[in-house]
Order: sequence, then C-alpha cells, then structure tokens
Amino acid sequence: MLGKIEHLGIAVKDLEKANETYEKLLGRKPYKNEEVASEHVITSFFKSGENKIELLAATHKDSAIAKYIEKRGEGIHHVAFQVDNIKEELNRLEKEGFSILNKEPKKGADNKLVAFIHPKTTNGVLVELCQEIEE
Ligand code: CO
Repeated sequence: MLGKIEHLGIAVKDLEKANETYEKLLGRKPYKNEEVASEHVITSFFKSGENKIELLAATHKDSAIAKYIEKRGEGIHHVAFQVDNIKEELNRLEKEGFSILNKEPKKGADNKLVAFIHPKTTNGVLVELCQEIEE
C-alpha cells in the first residue's frame, strides 16, 4: 500500500521567481535546490509543517515540464506518495491495471527512487511513488 503524501509537485515557468513567491507564501526559504539533469528539470523543495512542496521548472524545451506548461499552464503537476518498497508497489499497481510510466524506478530529486503512474489511469492525476534511498 502507499504511505503518506510525500510532496506535491508544482510546475513553474521561472524557478527563481517562483522561489520568491513561495518564500513569501510559506514564510521560509527552500531547503534544497537540485537539478535532475536526466529529466531536464531544476527543482526546489520547501517544507511547510510536515508537508513538502516541490517546484519544478524545465531546463530544456523537450522536458516533460515544458510540455506540461505549454498544454496546461503552471500548476499542480503531480502528487507523490511515499512507499517502503517501490518495486513491490509497482508490481501490485501494474496487476491492478494502472499504467506505469517507468517500470524501472529512477533516481529522482531529494534522494529518492521514483516512478510515475500515467494520469489516464488515475483520474487525471500524475502520481509519483517515491522511496527514500538508503545511504
Ligand atoms: Co516529485
């Protein structure tokens, strides 16, 4: 089963400007800025109480984030759930008929192994599974 909502991902056009906006909104600075070169995105992470917000901006026009913003504009891009065993959950969800975008989990931002489920099988919501990478 899935665990808590680990973070919400928000697609933004300009990460610097969005950082300023979310600094004002949340009353604190991001605790991390990180580029995920393989995904052509730069990210920043904010804490708000127990919750986390991930801002994502494209670094390349072929980035999924660039395409998302082109089609739908800025806004909530994905909901990420924490899991203890990502491979086990992917197997379970595949059997349940969900469309898994990457069956082999990949290294995402913030020290996580991640995989995504296509929004066509989750009522229009891109779902991310993430498992903390043990050091
Ligand atoms: Co995410």
